[in-house]
Amino acid sequence: MILFINACVRKKSRTLRLANKLLCKLEDDVKEVRLEEVEFPVFNEEFIILRDELEAKGNYDHEIFDLARDFAKADTIVIAAPYYDLSFPAMLKQYFEQINILGLTFTYSESGIPKGLCKAKYLYYVTTAGGYIISEEYGFGYVKALANTFYGIEDVRQIKAEGLDIAGADVEGILKNVSFE
Ligand SMILES: Cc1cc2nc3c(=O)[nH]c(=O)nc-3n(C[C@H](O)[C@H](O)[C@H](O)COP(=O)(O)O)c2cc1C
Repeated sequence: MILFINACVRKKSRTLRLANKLLCKLEDDVKEVRLEEVEFPVFNEEFIILRDELEAKGNYDHEIFDLARDFAKADTIVIAAPYYDLSFPAMLKQYFEQINILGLTFTYSESGIPKGLCKAKYLYYVTTAGGYIISEEYGFGYVKALANTFYGIEDVRQIKAEGLDIAGADVEGILKNVSFE
């Protein structure tokens, strides 16, 4: 099962177009999480206390862990996120806050090193930028660090198109030439 985490918002999203092309190539069942439809809980102290208590009891059936359970058991992860403010839409960060669950998606070794508990072998990060991706540190780089360090997903790939909003850009040509390798 592919878990498709969709952080696209525009009806004519170019990022979504690329992600759909990738999903067709991957040929597997897809479960989509449309992030704009998710009502994320306020990440306040009350929420952290509730979560810590549930984690301590090993009670991972609670609904606040639904997203994390799906993430942990997916075979492949596909994230579609447009390049916003040198990074990605804030709702994707909210999503990560909900799935970084001790005992479900990751654990710690005795020496305090995070160790992944997720099944997925591949994570694809699909993005498009109006200009150019200045630094990968805050977008793809951050997601790759999370995947490698916390989730234990080693093979993390970026699929991207840049320069789409530059005056005179051949948008269709750029999208057509995107590499899916
Ligand atoms: C809120 C917002 C922030 C953006 N920030 C950047 C940016 O920092 N750098 C950039 O090159 N383009 C930026 N863009 C342009 C988008 O990256 C570009 O239009 C992208 O292709 C949108 O993806 P979509 O077609 O999937 O919606 C921004 C667009 C929006 C709406």
